[in-house]
Amino acid sequence: ADGLRDPDWAGRLHRMDTVVSTQEEAKRLAESGALEGTAVMAEEQIGGRGRMGRKWHSPKGKGIWMSVVLRPAIPLQSTPQLTLLAGVAVCTAIRKMTGVEAGIKWPNDLLAGGRKLCGILIESNVGPGGLQYAIAGIGISANLSEEDYPAELKEIATSLLIEGGVPVDRVKLAGEVLRELKIHYELYLEQGFGPIARLWEEQSVTLGRRIGRKTQQGWLEGTAIGLGEDGGLLLRDDNGTVTSVCSGEIVLI
Ligand code: BTN
Repeated sequence: ADGLRDPDWAGRLHRMDTVVSTQEEAKRLAESGALEGTAVMAEEQIGGRGRMGRKWHSPKGKGIWMSVVLRPAIPLQSTPQLTLLAGVAVCTAIRKMTGVEAGIKWPNDLLAGGRKLCGILIESNVGPGGLQYAIAGIGISANLSEEDYPAELKEIATSLLIEGGVPVDRVKLAGEVLRELKIHYELYLEQGFGPIARLWEEQSVTLGRRIGRKTQQGWLEGTAIGLGEDGGLLLRDDNGTVTSVCSGEIVLI
């Protein structure tokens, strides 16, 4: 809660050159007692991680590869809400600073022109008393050009440079992201998930869309109609049955 007294998380940004993953660096800081809002940004990651065991392409000097320490006093089952919160904060910062029309694909990918611009990875550290801290990993593809992407990513990934036509000041944008993260985080701690869910819905490119999703029972298809209290995505199928999707991957149809 010390972070709440800190006027500016951007003042806690540690910059590093090459790291395996900023997630590990932030964890190390958290373990040694770092205050909330402490962040690590690296020029390059050689072992950048994505969700579901994927790799995260993090070439040198091209992106915002950053991890932030959070210590919310929330029950474990609320941690998916942090993911949505971080998505809202980053989307707000990007729209404000660059004018690129980013939108959120559930749960927290930021897309522009249908391709991915940013990914978020929340890793929680759980102790006997519940959630000890969470590391919010934020990867924004800022100044990559088409040539910086390997063939298999060209169709699915974009960048602020590609979308906006001009390079962005990465440190300035990182500072803006940290400021927005602090604002939205405090809103969440004070007023709960409701206000964050409404902001998420405003910035979403998922709501109202037809969504597909693999399940143990087979293929689930329906229209995304909103966010549940827990941060799950509510899908209404053709019979009118509403299901909440809580984790994993969805396909926009
Ligand atoms: C995803 O979309 O799958 C999440 C990608 C998260 C990437 C960021 S970059 C900074 C931090 N360090 C990592 O190794 N991953 C996250």
